[in-house]
Amino acid sequence: MKTINIAIDGPAGAGKSTIAKMVSAKLGYIYVDTGALYRTIALFISENNIADEDIEKSLPNAEVSLKFEEGAQHVYLGDRDVSALIRTPGISMEASRTSAMPAVREYLFETQQRIARENNVIMDGRDIGTVVLPNADVKIFLTASAEERANRRYKELSEKPNCPCYEEILSDIIERDHNDMNRKTSPLKQAEDAVLVDTTELDLEQSAEAITNIIREKLDGRE
Ligand code: DC
Repeated sequence: MKTINIAIDGPAGAGKSTIAKMVSAKLGYIYVDTGALYRTIALFISENNIADEDIEKSLPNAEVSLKFEEGAQHVYLGDRDVSALIRTPGISMEASRTSAMPAVREYLFETQQRIARENNVIMDGRDIGTVVLPNADVKIFLTASAEERANRRYKELSEKPNCPCYEEILSDIIERDHNDMNRKTSPLKQAEDAVLVDTTELDLEQSAEAITNIIREKLDGRE
């Protein structure tokens, strides 16, 4: 039976993962965070000090896999659960840099397609609606202003020790947006048939509701 595939793309910090998790819980679909795959490859490259020219031939040794445990995604490097380890600013930047490499994108392409073939998914990333799942049932492009995204991230981090300042977070976001939108292979862009949702003025509940409504309307409209 054909599975239902929902693609959510957008820039870093737009709330994709939090919102997609809320929506997938409501709809009973699996939530797939493809950024975690790119982050895990970045971890593999940095832990093993792999030079850029050796990345392509090293990728088959990476053994990256996703497991879904009680609805939550865990990402593995070999048999190690690295879900927490990949959430550092250093890995964010390295993932942004290495995800521009065609060999890295090709390596992860089939993994993402297979998960969508086998499960009803909400998959979030940068090129899901444009490249990975061009025939997705519903495509959403989720965005918010860079300042608002930095603001949200700052609030999240300001409780923690060694929190970077707002300006540092904002400049990181702007740099990652630039990398993600201007790379040659699969740049971040809105698919022609994606619905644009701007969450600058919306809280999480409102954003999740807006997206759930879009998905329900599209799916109902086809029946
Ligand atoms: O969503 P995230 O911040 O965890 O993603 C980490 C990096 O991976 C981000 O800089 C862009 C890249 N990425 C990508 O190129 N394509 C995807 N489908 C998902 C993430």
